[in-house]
Amino acid sequence: MGDARPEVLIAEDRISARVSEFAERISSDYAGKDELVLVGVLKGAFILLADLSRRLTIPHRVEFIALSSYGKSSVSTGAVRLIMDLRGDIEDKHVLIVEDIVDTGHTLHYLVSLLKTRRPASLRTCALVRKSERAKVEVNVDYLGFDIPDKWVVGYGLDYAERWRTLPYIGMLPEGDG
Ligand code: PRP
Repeated sequence: MGDARPEVLIAEDRISARVSEFAERISSDYAGKDELVLVGVLKGAFILLADLSRRLTIPHRVEFIALSSYGKSSVSTGAVRLIMDLRGDIEDKHVLIVEDIVDTGHTLHYLVSLLKTRRPASLRTCALVRKSERAKVEVNVDYLGFDIPDKWVVGYGLDYAERWRTLPYIGMLPEGDG
């Protein structure tokens, strides 16, 4: 793959503004409720989770879960594997899943089903970007940043072969280069 920096799709200041909006809405929606548990989906969500959690003005706890899906690039089998589970219990807690991207929707769909079995008080979802054209299963995103075209995107947690995760903006890889 070439070394050229990916073309900007969503600039850093637009991401920052949207994360601040998320934080305001979430802080308001969960005000007065018992502790909120943010569940970051590794690896991609670690940047969003770090930025979002530091802007919340309500008490909250941070948890991580790691999932992996097979056959990702053009054909998705829909099979999702649990790599690392939550450390804490979420029964009777208000849970917000934090994802970087919803692509086919399989990962989020799987995770929502899994966490529901643990009887949280409530369960909502947040994702910075969604590729609507690629949706294979319907999954509700309560706090959505941006709908994006079906391009290979990197940055702000998203990688291509583990590269570009710490790019401060969401960029597109050239066609045929990803
Ligand atoms: C990415 C992303 C989501 C998932 C979305 O994770 O972080 O979890 O894919 O795709 P889907 O909607 O088609 O299921 P990935 O498996 O690439 O792992 P990573 O976060 O560790 O890079």
